[in-house]
Amino acid sequence: MSLVHETDYGTPASKATEQVTLTIDGQSVTVPAGTSIMRAAMEIGTKVPKLCATDSVDAFGSCRLCLVEIAGRPGTPASCTTPVAPGIVVSTQTERLKQIRKGVMELYISDHPLDCLTCAANGDCELQDMAGAVGLREVRYGEGESHTHQAKDESNPYFTYDPSKCIVCSRCVRACEEVQGTFALTIQGRGFDSKVSPGMNESFLSSECVSCGACVQACPTATLSEKSLIEIGTPEHSVVTTCAYCGVGCSFKAEMRGEELVRMVPYKDGKANRGHSCVKGRFAWGYANHKERILKPMIRESIDQPWREVSWDEAIGRVASEFRRLQDKHGRLAIGGITSSRCTNEETYLVQKLIRGGFGNNNVDTCARVCHSPTGYGLKTAFGTSAGTQDFDSVEQTDVVLVIGANPPDAHPVFASRMKKRLRAGARLIVIDPRRTDLVRSPHIEADFHLALRPGTNAAMLNAIAHVIVTEGLVDEKFVREYCDRDAFEDWAAFVAEPRNSPENVGLLTGVPADAIRGAARLYATGGNAAIYYGLGVTEHSQGTTAVMALANLAMATGNLGRPGVGVNPLRGQNNVQGSCDMGSFPHELPGYRHISEDATRTMFEQMWGRPLDAEPGLRIPNMFDAAIDGTFKGLYVQGEDILQSDPNTHHVKEALAAMECVVVQDLFLNETANYAHVFLPGSTFLEKDGTFTNAERRINRVRRVMTPKSGMADWEITLAVARAMGFEMPYRHPSEIMDEIAALTPTFAGVSYDLLDEVGSVQWPCNETAPLGTPVMHVGGFVRGKGNFLVTEYVPTDERTGPRFPLLLTTGRILTQYNVGAQTRRTGNVVWHEEDVLEIHPHDAEQRGVRDGDWVRLDSRVGSTSLRARITDRVAPGVVYTTFHHPETQANVVTTDLSDWATNCPEYKVTAVQVSPSNGPGAWQKEYAEQARHSRRVAAE
Ligand code: SF4
Ligand code: SF4
Ligand code: SF4
Ligand code: FES
Repeated sequence: MSLVHETDYGTPASKATEQVTLTIDGQSVTVPAGTSIMRAAMEIGTKVPKLCATDSVDAFGSCRLCLVEIAGRPGTPASCTTPVAPGIVVSTQTERLKQIRKGVMELYISDHPLDCLTCAANGDCELQDMAGAVGLREVRYGEGESHTHQAKDESNPYFTYDPSKCIVCSRCVRACEEVQGTFALTIQGRGFDSKVSPGMNESFLSSECVSCGACVQACPTATLSEKSLIEIGTPEHSVVTTCAYCGVGCSFKAEMRGEELVRMVPYKDGKANRGHSCVKGRFAWGYANHKERILKPMIRESIDQPWREVSWDEAIGRVASEFRRLQDKHGRLAIGGITSSRCTNEETYLVQKLIRGGFGNNNVDTCARVCHSPTGYGLKTAFGTSAGTQDFDSVEQTDVVLVIGANPPDAHPVFASRMKKRLRAGARLIVIDPRRTDLVRSPHIEADFHLALRPGTNAAMLNAIAHVIVTEGLVDEKFVREYCDRDAFEDWAAFVAEPRNSPENVGLLTGVPADAIRGAARLYATGGNAAIYYGLGVTEHSQGTTAVMALANLAMATGNLGRPGVGVNPLRGQNNVQGSCDMGSFPHELPGYRHISEDATRTMFEQMWGRPLDAEPGLRIPNMFDAAIDGTFKGLYVQGEDILQSDPNTHHVKEALAAMECVVVQDLFLNETANYAHVFLPGSTFLEKDGTFTNAERRINRVRRVMTPKSGMADWEITLAVARAMGFEMPYRHPSEIMDEIAALTPTFAGVSYDLLDEVGSVQWPCNETAPLGTPVMHVGGFVRGKGNFLVTEYVPTDERTGPRFPLLLTTGRILTQYNVGAQTRRTGNVVWHEEDVLEIHPHDAEQRGVRDGDWVRLDSRVGSTSLRARITDRVAPGVVYTTFHHPETQANVVTTDLSDWATNCPEYKVTAVQVSPSNGPGAWQKEYAEQARHSRRVAAE
C-alpha cells in the first residue's frame, strides 16, 4: 500500500448554498458562492502554484505566487483570497503570470539554504515543488543578507524548529490560531529578521504551545519537522487508523517505513477530527516500542514469587485450568472478567461472550463502571438511548455552549479546538465547574457565566437552573407538548418550582450567587441553539445519575434536542468507552443494551453462540471486590485495565485482589494490578490489530493493523485462545467476522460492516435499514423511547462531609499531556510536561497551613493518605483542592472513598473530604512503591 494522499484545495470549503458558475482556463466550473478562485480551479484539477495557502486555514494572500488574470479586471489578483463571481473568465497560466511567479520563487530560494538532498522534507516540500512547478532553473541573487544563520529550537520533544528554512508564510501562526485556538505563535521582526516566534521569543517548550502539531502539519517547508521523520526517514506507505487515547476518536494516517512507524498525521477526511490532533494522538505513540513492554507470557504460583516466562500454550493452559478448578471448587459464579475500554469493540465483545458463554455467568463489567455508567443509565431512562445525542459537527450550529464537569481543552482537546472556534465566532459560554478551567478564559474567549459550585452540588445547581426556566415561563411548551410525557413533565415542573430549588436557596448550598444562576438559566433557555457538554465531573458522584437526568430534563424543557446545534453530549473518557458499553460489558446487559433477563434476546444469543446463558445479572466491579474479600469470588480475567490504580479506595482493591486465587492480567506493561496477578498475557497496541473503536459521538471508526503484534498475538486472538482452552470454540478468522456477528445480533449495529466502513470512512450508530449511513443526530422528530421522560431529581447531599478533621474537598481530573493512569503517556516524551501529580490549593488555604508553592504536603482522607507537592493557585476556590491521577507514585485514589452513585455504583471520585498538612516528602508506602518500581525496572532491563 502506498502513502494515502489527500488533496490540499488551498482554501477552506464554502458552506454557502448558492452556486456560482465561472470559466477557468477555458473550462466551466460551478462551485458554492464564496469559494476562492484557487479552490474552484482545484475542483477541476488545475493546480495554481501556492505557498501561503492551505485548506486548513483561511487565505492570507502573502506569498503572491497564486496570482491569476481575470478578463476585464486590472492587475493580477491572488486566487486564494479572491472569491469566484458569476460569469468571470480566469486564466491561471499566462506568460505574464509565469514570469511573475518565477520572480517570486527566485526571491524565496535566494534566502533559503540549498541543502535539499540532506533535508528531512526532501520529496515532501512545497517550496521544492513550487520551484519545479514555476520552472525556476537559476537564482540570480548571490551572497548577501539572509536569515539562513538563525539557530534551531530543539526544545520540543517531538518537533524541531529551524528558522533558517522559514519562508514566513504564516501558515503555522494561522494554524495555531484558527485550527488549535492557542495563539502561541507570532511573526516577529521585519525583512530578513522576520521570524516565527513562540510567545515573547521563548522556546517552543517554555511557551504557551500545547504541542498539538497543527503548525508542523501546516508548514510547507522543513522549518517545523517531526523529529521522528528526521531520524527515521521518508515514509513509504501509510494506513488510516484511529487514535487509541481519548473519546474524540481522531483519525490518523500512520505513515510507515516497513514495520517502523515514522509519524502519525491527522487525517483530513476523519469525521471526528477533520485533520486536527492533540499531542497524545500525534506524538505520544512511543510507548508501543518502550523497553518495559512485556512481550512474553508469564506465570507464577503465587504473587510473592518472581514471574516465569512461558510459552503461549502454557500460559493459556494455566488460565483455563485454574478457572475451571476454581469453578469446580467454588461454583460457576466464582470467576468473572473486566473488559477494556482501550481495546476494540470486537475484543470487548469477545470477552463478554467468553464470560457469558464460556464461564457460564454474567460477572462482566468494564471501566465505564467508574466513569460514564450514570450516562448510560440516565440518558436511557430519559430518552431511551444510552449515548450522546449529537455529532461533533453539531457544535458549529450552537449558539450557547453549556459545559459542566468537563475540561475539554485538557481531556478532549481536538473537540475543544472546534468548540473554541465556534465560541470565537460568537457562541456564548456557560461553564459549571468548581475549578476555573482553561475554557473559562482563553485567547478571545471569556465565559459569560462561570458557576464555580462546591463539589457535590451539581444536582442542586441543575434544579435551580430548571427552577428559573419553569418559574420565569421559559419552557418550550410546544416541544414538551409534542414530544414529552405530559404527566412526567408536570410532576417535574412542580418539583423544580418549589422554593427550596430557587437560585437563592441553592446559592447557599453551592456557593454561587443567585443572580449568576438566574443569568445562566436565562441564557441557556433563550440564547438560541443550546448544547450541553459534560464529563466525569457530572457522573463521578453519589448523584451522578441524578445529574445526568437533570441535564436531560433541561434539554427537554427548552426544546434543545432533535436537531443540529443542541443536545446532551457526554464527553467520553477513553477511546472506546462508548463501544465497550455498546458491546455488552455490563453485567445486566447484552450487546445493544438489552437486559439479560429478556427471554427473546437471550434466546437469540444462545442460538448464535450455542451456549445456554444465565438470565441473572452478574456482579459489578465493586461487588466482585466485596465477594473476593468474603471468599466467594476467586478468579478474574482483566483485559487492558489497571483496576488497582483506577478504582477508588486502593487499599480495598488490594485486599480483594490478594484474596483471589487466579488473577489474569492482559496488558502492555506490568501495571499495578499485575502485582497481584498469577498469569500475565502480553497485550497488543492499537497499531498491531484490526478492529473498530466507537467514539463519544457514537461514531464507529476503523482501527487498522500497521505492524505485526510484537508478542505474536493480538488481544482478540488471546481471548479466542482462552475460550478455546476452556472448550468454547469461537471460529473467527478476522475481526470483520466478529463485527458481522455483532451486526447480526444487535439492531443498532445491523448495517455495520468493515466493507461499509472502508467505503464511507465511519458511521454513527444506529446504523441499520432505517439509517443505512448512520445517525448523526438522535431523537429527530421524537424520542427513541417514545415520549421524553422527565425525572424528578431530588438533591441529596453526599455522605462525604467536611468537618474539623477533613475540612477541604478534593476533586480530581486530567491534564492534556497525560492520560488516565499514565501507563502509556508516562512512557513517552510527554513526561517533560507533567513529571508528577501536584495538589492545587487556594492561597488562603495554603497560608492557613503554612504551605508555600512547591512544598511537599500530605493529603489525608478518611480512607488513606498520600504526599505530593502543592501548587498555590486561585483556579480552585477556597475550601477546594484538586489533583490529577496520572502517576502511581502518588495514586490519588488512595484517598478517594468507596461511596458511589446510587444507580450504577460509579465511584464518587469527585468529592473527598480531606486535610492538607505540610510534609517532608513522600510517605512510607510511596517510598516502598518507588523502591519496588526501581527493582521492577532493573529486572525488566536485565
Ligand atoms: S504545536 Fe500547536 S499549540 Fe504549539 S505552536 Fe504549533 S499549533 Fe500552536
Ligand atoms: S515555520 Fe513554516 S509555516 Fe511557519 S512561517 Fe515558516 S515556513 Fe511558514
Ligand atoms: S483528541 Fe483524543 S483522539 Fe484526538 S488525538 Fe488527542 S487523544 Fe487522540
Ligand atoms: S497562496 Fe495565494 S498569496 Fe500565497
